[in-house]
Amino acid sequence: MKVVVLTGAGISAESGVPTFRDADGLWEGHRVEEVATPEAYDHAPMTVHRFYDARRSALLGVQPNAAHHALARLEEVLGDDLLVITQNIDDLHERAGSRRVLHMHGELLSALCRACDGRVRWESDLVDLPPCPGCGVTELRPDVVWFGEVPYGMDRISIELARADLFVSIGTSGAVYPAAGFVQHALRYGARTLELNLEPSEGTAWFHEARHGRAGELVPHWVEELLETAHSAS
Ligand code: APR
Repeated sequence: MKVVVLTGAGISAESGVPTFRDADGLWEGHRVEEVATPEAYDHAPMTVHRFYDARRSALLGVQPNAAHHALARLEEVLGDDLLVITQNIDDLHERAGSRRVLHMHGELLSALCRACDGRVRWESDLVDLPPCPGCGVTELRPDVVWFGEVPYGMDRISIELARADLFVSIGTSGAVYPAAGFVQHALRYGARTLELNLEPSEGTAWFHEARHGRAGELVPHWVEELLETAHSAS
């Protein structure tokens, strides 16, 4: 059975990583337009760097939770038949042990050089405009996909969604495309679809089944259930 899991900010909420569309609609006190667009970066690069530098250092202070660990356990059993597509830029899936993770919106712990297009693992600040280790030019930007930019890995994502027997969406509001359209793509190719989220997402009507609650409880329970089914079928 081929399983594709889409995760959003809700899966990291119980680890202490704020989600995007909380009550105030601000992203940690910033309007998204101020910090997550190429225009914002051209207009005020220091504001953007300070924003992501703060998130990068905050990330070093949080840990994966039970939902991340449950998906890592599922990968141990399903191997190449499981792919986690995440909208998150944190590294909590990998720190929980997942290897088959596709970061469609980029990664906080990576820097992208606008001069040579090189990518480098980055754990410290970018606001001091450090030189690119590859070409030496001081054009390193956060390796995250901003609004108006094309997400990473879309060709592979389309293929994997078309092959999926089961598509599961965890901790995402379904407010942002193209991720919000993945359920319809998977459905079109005959996948069964399941939503695990604190509340109904904007796309909840597209799911065969929806379970609402905290990911830290829902995901381990769903993984145990799937592994039991897989076990009794074998
Ligand atoms: N367990 C499960 N779901 C949760 C939890 C939790 N503990 N806490 C919050 N949620 C749910 C919320 O109900 C909401 O539906 O997670 C969802 C988070 O939604 P958003 O904040 O909109 O985050 P996400 O869907 O990942 O945003 C998509 O938007 O801003 C861009 O690029 C950014 O990747 C992000 C994209």
